[in-house]
Amino acid sequence: MAHAVVTNFEFLDNLDQLLFEIETEVEHQAYWKTFIAPTTPSSIVLKIMAEVMRDIGSYQLEVNKAVFSAVGRLGTVIDEQGLIRAMIAVQVEEVGHGAIAAADYAILTNNQIACRDSRPTPTAQALIGTVRNLGEREHPLCHLGFMYFFEKFTTLMTEKVAPTLLRAGYPDDRLEFMRLHAEEDVRHADMLANVIAECLNRYDDAASHIQYGFDTFRVVYPHALWNAAFLRATGERVCHD
Ligand SMILES: [Fe+2]
Repeated sequence: MAHAVVTNFEFLDNLDQLLFEIETEVEHQAYWKTFIAPTTPSSIVLKIMAEVMRDIGSYQLEVNKAVFSAVGRLGTVIDEQGLIRAMIAVQVEEVGHGAIAAADYAILTNNQIACRDSRPTPTAQALIGTVRNLGEREHPLCHLGFMYFFEKFTTLMTEKVAPTLLRAGYPDDRLEFMRLHAEEDVRHADMLANVIAECLNRYDDAASHIQYGFDTFRVVYPHALWNAAFLRATGERVCHD
């Protein structure tokens, strides 16, 4: 048992180390350097953020569906009920967040056409395809890899974007929501860490399924999404979306 606890700690610690690595990767990307540069006009900062919100507005519901599909395929015995309830608990609290991001996009762009009514950008579509395939066709535990990534990474990055958004005049009430959301995500990441630890104790090969979900998600998030959002906002390249 003592051995299992140490192993769980090491597994989660390794995921956290990977997220810190990805955070460093972000800081070396041109999109990030431009975003936080004091010389970047506020209008560009807000456009970049609007494009990020546009993507969240189109993929968030699909992430929820993917997770519910995965969790719905897990569990064959009564004593798994508590674990399954814990898995769903985080996702229930994500319901509606896509609509809030879509509203942010509409406010930032004065765009009356809700982004949820338009087709996802190609990169958002790639993210949707990834989580949908993992959720519907791969082992159900894969979803814990991409959800832990999502929740924990959001907590790391929100703090870093806040000063830039303040400088650019991002609407106060929307910033407040972002701050509250980030606090919630700290709790969500902790809840997922507990679920992951229980899965590692309960299921053989849980670590490899969770790691696979994490590693697959990393292919599309964050760089592919954020770089494309940056390019759409700055018009640095023709985008067919
Ligand atoms: Fe969350």
